[in-house]
Amino acid sequence: MRAVDLIQKKKEGKSHTQEEIKFLVENYTKGNIEDYQMSAWLMAVCFQGLNDEETAYLTQAFVESGDILDFSKISSNIADKHSTGGVGDKVTLALIPILAQLDVYTAKLSGRGLGFTGGTIDKLEAIPNFKTELTNEEFFKQISDIKVAISSQSPNLTPADGKIYALRDVTATVDNKSLICASVVSKKIASGANSIVLDVKYGSGAFLKTPQEARELGDLMIKTGKLLNRNIDVVISSMEQPLGFSVGNSLEVIEALEFLKGNYKEDLYEITLELAIKTLLNCKKATTKEEAKAMVDLVIKNGSALNKFKEIIAHQKGNTEVIEDYSLFEIGKNKTEIKANKDGYISKLIALDVAHAAKLLGAGRDKKSDSIDFGAGIILNKKIGDKVQKDDVVMELYYNDVSQTKLNDSIKIAQSSFEIQEEEFEKPKLIY
Ligand code: URA
Repeated sequence: MRAVDLIQKKKEGKSHTQEEIKFLVENYTKGNIEDYQMSAWLMAVCFQGLNDEETAYLTQAFVESGDILDFSKISSNIADKHSTGGVGDKVTLALIPILAQLDVYTAKLSGRGLGFTGGTIDKLEAIPNFKTELTNEEFFKQISDIKVAISSQSPNLTPADGKIYALRDVTATVDNKSLICASVVSKKIASGANSIVLDVKYGSGAFLKTPQEARELGDLMIKTGKLLNRNIDVVISSMEQPLGFSVGNSLEVIEALEFLKGNYKEDLYEITLELAIKTLLNCKKATTKEEAKAMVDLVIKNGSALNKFKEIIAHQKGNTEVIEDYSLFEIGKNKTEIKANKDGYISKLIALDVAHAAKLLGAGRDKKSDSIDFGAGIILNKKIGDKVQKDDVVMELYYNDVSQTKLNDSIKIAQSSFEIQEEEFEKPKLIY
């Protein structure tokens, strides 16, 4: 078999066999197939697509490229959740302590932000001393001790996806549904979870732009799960505007802590609750949605979910004092306010623009090797549908030592990231 023949085959729109996909993935991971050939194949996939079987073969090949974790000695029900990526998406930080507090074993493997999307591992590292790289032994031990651990992916877990994802990122081949499905679903299977809930995002701040595309991706993920004997549940949610009231690493952890103290924006609560309900039902911890909701509300209200987060921080060597003292977080020492130029209602708040503005302040990275400023970010005082008056502060930019050019660009993008209309209107739905 030769890579060039397989590229030609896909270019002509023909379907691959399982052996052909395995050959491509295995040999690319081992370094026997060059980046330029894999790039050409990925681009051919973007134009010609993969059918459902090919998508499952690709997912399986990713899984088999590395280790598969096995938690069966700890529990027969291990939950995991993954988002396809967004702006201000701190749901994992809010959800994971709630689930663990409600007796759900949760093995969470997370990634760093790349491009315009944020990543849970970067957010956690905003907590002083928090250890995000756990060995397999530490990961297992913490899950058996306190039911939950959050770690970055080990190099042995779906290494094929790690290598191909980095290539997709620089060859404009990220936004293909089969490629996203194989990337996300393979990681969840390899992480040993058997109750998987995926938050598939659409909108300006997501890889897929319309709800229809997100729905097709969701359906494909469910089908792929079935073909590979995993039960996958999907929530489709909007990423037209950022989630919650902050974008940027320290700011988002503070928002998650506030959430667990009962102070939250409705959208963050809505999506966290939806994912929690699905997981509690799938893991048979609740029998009805109403019961699951009451359980979630109780552990927020009585502070036990917040305590669970404290336990996670303590086990992963982070400074637990941040829970009470937010001054221990790095927060940008400079602030610029972006104000409304007229009265009315916020009609647009473009997530992608807010993400770009935050990245220019230092909150994100362009390349994996770039460093990030945990203190940089944006607080959103207004969201779509909110009433504003001229000169109200719509958002606050926080930053440290950023160049004047980057700051000016960030301010310009932030100013044009929202629109105001005179008439009141119904707020858009978050969950599709
Ligand atoms: N998240 C992933 O892990 N992979 C993708 O392809 C897109 C989002």
